[in-house]
This record gives sequence, structure tokens and C-alpha cells, in this order.
Amino acid sequence: MNQTSTQSCRDKIYQDFQQCRLKTMTLFADIDEASFRGQSHPEFSPVGWHLGHIGMTEGYWILEQLAGQPQLYPEYRQLFAADGLPKCDRGLLVPSFPEVCDILSSIRTKVFTYLEAAPLDEQERLWRFIIQHESMHNETIAFVLQIQNLLESRDKIPGQITDGHPVAAEMLEIPAGEFDMGSNSIDAMDNERPGHRVYLDTYWIDRYPVTCGQYRQFIADGGYQKESWWSPDGWKWLQENPVVQPLYWHNESEWKNHPVCGVSWYEADAYARYVGKRLPTEAEWEKAASWDAAAGRSRTYPWGEEMPSGKQCNCDGIVGQTTPVNAASAGQSAYGMEDALGNVWEWTGSWFDRYEGFAWYPYRGYSQAYFDNQHRVIKGASWATRPWVMRASLRNWYHPGVRQILAGFRCASSQP
Ligand code: AVJ
Ligand code: FE
Repeated sequence: MNQTSTQSCRDKIYQDFQQCRLKTMTLFADIDEASFRGQSHPEFSPVGWHLGHIGMTEGYWILEQLAGQPQLYPEYRQLFAADGLPKCDRGLLVPSFPEVCDILSSIRTKVFTYLEAAPLDEQERLWRFIIQHESMHNETIAFVLQIQNLLESRDKIPGQITDGHPVAAEMLEIPAGEFDMGSNSIDAMDNERPGHRVYLDTYWIDRYPVTCGQYRQFIADGGYQKESWWSPDGWKWLQENPVVQPLYWHNESEWKNHPVCGVSWYEADAYARYVGKRLPTEAEWEKAASWDAAAGRSRTYPWGEEMPSGKQCNCDGIVGQTTPVNAASAGQSAYGMEDALGNVWEWTGSWFDRYEGFAWYPYRGYSQAYFDNQHRVIKGASWATRPWVMRASLRNWYHPGVRQILAGFRCASSQP
């Protein structure tokens, strides 16, 4: 990098760090002590833990690892480590909201001082990782708060009507051929690399995610009662978790064009079988969302290279809930796939696994610990996802039984 580009890289990191943190703090705008340290679900830590973890992770990588400064807040190291204490023990030990804020801002002050002269030629990837790390925890905070609201049955919000007609389950034909999957960009996580060519036969994929209106038919037809629509593992899961509708379900007619949100992979898989389809593989999803066949290259975002905003999709907590799947046509991919980024994450049929040539970063367990054939890939992003972790190549992963995340799905097929 020459001096001018190093300076603009520095400015960009500074601005992105600030912009990212601003909304992190907004998420806690009217937090009370009980919600700050309360655990709404055994698999997810209290939101106060996530806030402390964001700050401590930044301090560890930037101040200790890059700047070589001594460890800060050693007394909180174990508490805020991802692999430190059992999740159920975290709430009681999390300091108060003002105390955690002090930790974050004192780390941030030191980080910005160091940034002024940091050798970004060698460090840019890690700095950009830290923004993405905070972004990902922002999303967890957002849905944990939503579960808390749900448990207290607060904040009943009306759906948005932008189209009176129900959205049809139209499919797009994606012609056989190769495309560029994954990414080698500076922002790409270890699991997205290396970018590589993939050939796919012709397939069909839904233009839109499955809507509440469509899913209502599955429920009405006894979808949760008929074993034949479920995989063996899915049926077993359903017996152990006797649910009858998605976690974030809305039956009212004004929600009919909103995407289904809060389903496990098993429910998505069963619905796809019910309509005679299947879930797309990760490669099928990514090709439909990003491949520009005319230009012979993959786009970073379905619509091109412009950073996501409320213009092309429902993201970054701007609306604070789902919107109709056909509300954002400016976000179309070259193939015409809509609502790929934002609104809801989408389950795929693929297990999370390494690409050939995988090299872990920034620590061995970031992705590698999850290459265990127990995590399904979700693609896209939700209404709560921050723009820094939105791109067609991004890979997120969860156990197939998780319903708390903001995930829906769309279907695919090998026949028209
Ligand atoms: C990729 C979103 C599943 O939040 O558990 C955050 C990302 N890894 N800190 C998570 C992550 C370490 C991860 N997900
Ligand atoms: Fe983390």
C-alpha cells in the first residue's frame, strides 16, 4: 500500500469502527438490569455478556496481539471468553451495564490511539475481522432481546402491507455451468476462502423466500402431524420438541407476504418435501444470488458492489422486523432472485464444511470447530444483520434444531 491508500484504509477502519459501535449501543437504549443479565434461552448468553465479549475480543486482538500491550481487565478475561464459563453461569457475574460500557469505551480509546500509527499493510485483515465480529454479536443481541420480548409478550407489532395479493411460489431456472464460489477479498472469513470454481447442472430456485401465507397451508394440512413429510431426524426432533408453528409466527393476513421466520432446519426441510421440492444446496443458493453470467463474474451483493442499506434490502435493524418478500426489488440478483440478503437468513441443505485449501484465521477454532457434520449452512442475512457481514459468499452455521435465529428458507428443485 502507498501512503495515500494506507491513510484511506485507516480512515475507513476508524469510521466503520465508530459506525458499528453506535448501533451496538443503540441496541441497549432502554435495557434494564434484568434483561441485561437474564438468560432467555439455554443456548444463548445474556445480552450483557455479548456486550462485554465484544469489547474484550477487540482488546485482546488489537491491543494485546497487534500492539503488544499488557492484558486488560484480567479479572474479566474468563467471564467474557467464548469458551470460559457455562452460559448459565454468565448472567450473575456480568458487571452492570454502566460498568460494561466503561470497559468498552476505555478499550476503544486505546484502540483508536494505536490505530493512528498501526502498520495496516500487515494488519488490515484483522481490523476488518473485528468489525465483523462485533456485527455478528449485534445480531445475536437483537434476537435474544426479541425472544425476551416474546416471553414477556411485549411489543406486538403490526405487519406491513405493500402488496395485497399473496406472493406466488414462482421459480427461476438457473442454467447449467460454472460460477465463482467463496471469496478471496480482504473481508472474507477463513471459511469463505479460497474462492473456487463450481459447476452446477441446471436447477430451479424460488424467486422469493417462503412466506407466512404459503406456510399457513402446510400447518393447515397437518404439516406438523404427518411423518411422511419429515426426515427421520426431523421427525425425531419434532417428537422431542413438539412445536406446531414457527417461533416468530404471525397468522394475521397482513403478514401473509412476510417470510417465515424462526423455523428449525427440520421444519424447512419438511415444508420443502410437502411442496415437492427440496432445500437448495449452499452452492445453488450462492450461484443464484451472486453469479453474473453476462459479465462472467460473481457480484459481492446480489445487486452489485454497493454496500447494503435500506435501499436494496431489509437489514441493519432499520425496520426492526421482517418486511414482505417482494418489498425490495432493487435488491434482485442477475438471475432475478429477490430478498436474498436481508429480511431472513435462509437454511440450505448443506453441512458447514471446509473448502479445499482452507486455512484457519484468526484462530484455529473460529470455523474449524464447526466442521463436524452437525451444523447446517444458512445464507443471506436477516433484518438485524449489519452491512459488514452481508455478502453472497458469507457463510453462517447453526445446529439444525435451532429456531431462535432469524431464519426462514426458500426451496429448490432439479426439475421445473
Ligand atoms: C458464525 C454467527 C455462528 O456468533 O456463534 C462470533 C460467529 N464466532 N464469535 C457465533 C462468532 C465467534 C458465530 N456465528
Ligand atoms: Fe465472539
